[in-house]
Amino acid sequence: MTLELATLDADDWPIAREVRLRALKDSPSAYISEYEDEVAVGESAWRERFTRMRWIVARHQARVIGLASSVRVDSRPPYERHVESVWVDPRHRRTGILRAIFGHLTEVEPDVTEWRVWVLDTNSVAREVYERLGFSPTGERQPLADGSGRLEIRLRFDAR
Ligand SMILES: CC(C)(COP(=O)(O)OP(=O)(O)OC[C@H]1O[C@@H](n2cnc3c(N)ncnc32)[C@H](O)[C@@H]1OP(=O)(O)O)[C@@H](O)C(=O)NCCC(=O)NCCS
Repeated sequence: MTLELATLDADDWPIAREVRLRALKDSPSAYISEYEDEVAVGESAWRERFTRMRWIVARHQARVIGLASSVRVDSRPPYERHVESVWVDPRHRRTGILRAIFGHLTEVEPDVTEWRVWVLDTNSVAREVYERLGFSPTGERQPLADGSGRLEIRLRFDAR
């Protein structure tokens, strides 16, 4: 299978938006954000996201089949980044797409030595997948602000 991995430019924000909305429709229980909120995010807010986040897509035959973003958190050192908005088209899961996306991220961000991700504790598949990619729990967990009683757990990958 041919797979093309690319970092999107700010002018590509409609591509990121379209895939992000597909992800939220496909896997609503995997994310804190809801489709109804994201669909209302307009061009200027999307362009602002591109100033602090890198958006990576995986394409097969010109169709985007995977997405991830990486973000530098203001209060954290530059060698640390968070992985967010991770999604792979269900028709292409378990074929190494996320492994390829994460490999691409570490290649294009060689100075990042600590990768982190928050995962909902109910998302056992994602937890397993990240652990297969070499992430391990930091021991941090936090309840969601929505009062649902759900928890997020934090995982970390050491790229040194
Ligand atoms: C989580 C997700 C992105 C994984 O993407 P993927 O492309 O299928 O993952 P990969 O094929 O790269 O697999 C990476 C590793 O995880 C393993 N894996 C993948 N899916 C798995 C599953 N359902 N159960 C157990 N292990 C799994 C793979 O075998 C592989 O390990 P290996 O290389 O040692 O064999 C995808 O399932 C998805 O989009 N889920 C819905 C959205 C979601 O949960 N996003 C994460 C939010 S934090």
